Amino acid sequence: MYYPQEIVDEVLANTDIVDVVSAHVHLKKRGKDYLGLCPFHNEKTPSFNVIPAKNMFYCFGCGAGGSAITFLMKYNNCTFTEALKELADRAQITLPAPNYSEETKKREKHRQDLLAVNKEAATYYYKLLRSRKGARGMKYFTDRSLSPETMKMFGLGFADGASSDLTEHLRKTGFSDELILESDVAVFNEKQGLHDRFFNRVMFPIQDVRGRVIGFGGRVLGDAKPKYINSSDTMIFDKGRNLYALNLARRTKADHLILCEGYMDVIAMHQAGFNQAVASLGTAFTPGQAALLRRYTKRVLLAYDSDGAGVRAALRNIGILRSGGLESSVIDLRPHKDPDEFIKAEGKEAFQDRIDNAENSFFYELRMLSQSYRMDDPASRTAFHREVARKLCTFTDEIERENYIAASAEKYFIKTDSLRRLVAQYGNATGYGSAAGESRRGRQNTRNAANTPPDRTGKEAADSRAGRFVPSGAVPAGTPSGQAAGKAAAAGGQEKAAPGPADENTGRRAGPAGRAPAGPTRAQKALWEKQCLLLTWIVDDPAVFAQLNKYLEPGDFDGAVYQRAAGLLWQQLQGGSGPVNAASVISAFETEREQEAAASILNMHLEGIEDADDRAKTLRELVFFIKQASLERMTQSGGTQSLQDLLSAKQKLQALRTVRFQL
Ligand code: GTP
Ligand code: MN
Repeated sequence: MYYPQEIVDEVLANTDIVDVVSAHVHLKKRGKDYLGLCPFHNEKTPSFNVIPAKNMFYCFGCGAGGSAITFLMKYNNCTFTEALKELADRAQITLPAPNYSEETKKREKHRQDLLAVNKEAATYYYKLLRSRKGARGMKYFTDRSLSPETMKMFGLGFADGASSDLTEHLRKTGFSDELILESDVAVFNEKQGLHDRFFNRVMFPIQDVRGRVIGFGGRVLGDAKPKYINSSDTMIFDKGRNLYALNLARRTKADHLILCEGYMDVIAMHQAGFNQAVASLGTAFTPGQAALLRRYTKRVLLAYDSDGAGVRAALRNIGILRSGGLESSVIDLRPHKDPDEFIKAEGKEAFQDRIDNAENSFFYELRMLSQSYRMDDPASRTAFHREVARKLCTFTDEIERENYIAASAEKYFIKTDSLRRLVAQYGNATGYGSAAGESRRGRQNTRNAANTPPDRTGKEAADSRAGRFVPSGAVPAGTPSGQAAGKAAAAGGQEKAAPGPADENTGRRAGPAGRAPAGPTRAQKALWEKQCLLLTWIVDDPAVFAQLNKYLEPGDFDGAVYQRAAGLLWQQLQGGSGPVNAASVISAFETEREQEAAASILNMHLEGIEDADDRAKTLRELVFFIKQASLERMTQSGGTQSLQDLLSAKQKLQALRTVRFQL
């Protein structure tokens, strides 16, 4: 981070989070807090809370939460520094010059220059399309049924026949030849010198997730070849790490994204209301793009051409998506070629129907596989069954595997028991998870849940509530405990070596659509939940700190985020007497994920225990539990602690049995 924490704190102290959030979310006052519809997941009843006293927000539906900085990072998909700048501007605080190295500054300036050239070029093409010279381009788009609004939304443009109009324009604007060349909107040869790369083409500006133009695709107006020309990769344009229209699709309320092949497919889908569509950029889909998608969804529907090439691409990409921790299904577009043609021919209701009936990618793979076998020939049929069994071994989660075994057996008229035995045979020989001898089609996925990133969707968070913790004697209404612990697990558990096996207690779907999750054990979750409760308690009532401080230190907390959050709280509380600054603790974490984890840690309300004695007892139980777990870890880790420390911890634990906290 380039700014010292004091500056961050100062900006936050001068920021009213209610103001910041209200600019984007309609909030209603509810007691001391504010309530609205969460902008980060799809909901009908509001569960998005803004808590001015803590200068933070928290959604009980999806677990999104954090400071005003987190909010802007999430909402605008920007970096910590950018969010901080925006807030500093609002608060009229001048940020000190950040400590970039000379080299970093130069690189950054160069990036900005390249972005500026692209932006200028996009504006030029955009205006040209709408001018007299752009009539042919306009006719082309209109003939393909694009509305003016759609053309505007995608910033579509036109490059006409003259070979150096744009280059001249950019020169006049003040860009150097080197920069123009590097941005790849122009090319150089001996005969023509520097001249436009695109001419006589309709232009599709390609934007990054934040809507900045980073390159172009240009299509011929007729049937000439090549049909499309795309900008080459530059310092700001990496085709393998961007997706067309993700800047728009990331705001969709759909619970999935649709991946398709062409720019025109994406545009046609958006125009028909399917704003969840994205496409790769004229190159094969990459693991980098899967990782990018995974930041916005956990489920991807493939809408690839229904021809042979489309099927091959789909099969290949299912594997990439799976390895990237994404579930996928395939949309059947037959008898039409691609989404654009489908929608033109059958309309959006029919397309929605195809979305709803998208085929689970595993069954899609089986179906495609089955086509290379002859089911009326016993030998071929047997070979197919073996192949199915091998593929089924890729599921490491037993319940999930069993579900798929049953479903596959039914689909292909195999006896479930026989298939199960065959799977066990292969599984015992080569193990589960690795693509057990999966021949020809290559190793598709390891389904190794330890590699999958933590779940972040609202659905998932809501599901995980099933295993919520209830402190003795009280049922805190609406306590998002399971979810808070889940979130914190996301960040706090990162350092743990191998997370335990899948845990049914999360209440996660285990059906064919589910992924095999790896997560904390039940005991660990219970511990994390208690840690959340205690830390929130301290934030809400700093007076308890003075009492439990004797028994507990930040190192007693389990998990990196917990330790760090506790450390920051301890620092604040040992320093002074004033109220705790939760937003400051949150903003000391740099990534959005950590900030969310910290927010959930600090936002677990213990309500419903009115009686002071009961509260004191509950507090003692919490502290005792955490200390005991800490001592266990100390003992198990063996040898790194001095005997002295161990004894002292034991004594504290003993004392905790009888201590009476005063509330
Ligand atoms: P239309 O034919 O206008 O409907 O375009 P489309 O977007 O449906 O394209 P198509 O399905 O033919 O191709 C899918 C994508 O592959 C396009 O959007 C381009 O990104 C890319 N592509 C197609 N043809 C070419 C080409 O000739 N060269 C390059 N580099 N990319 C191409
Ligand atoms: Mn097409």
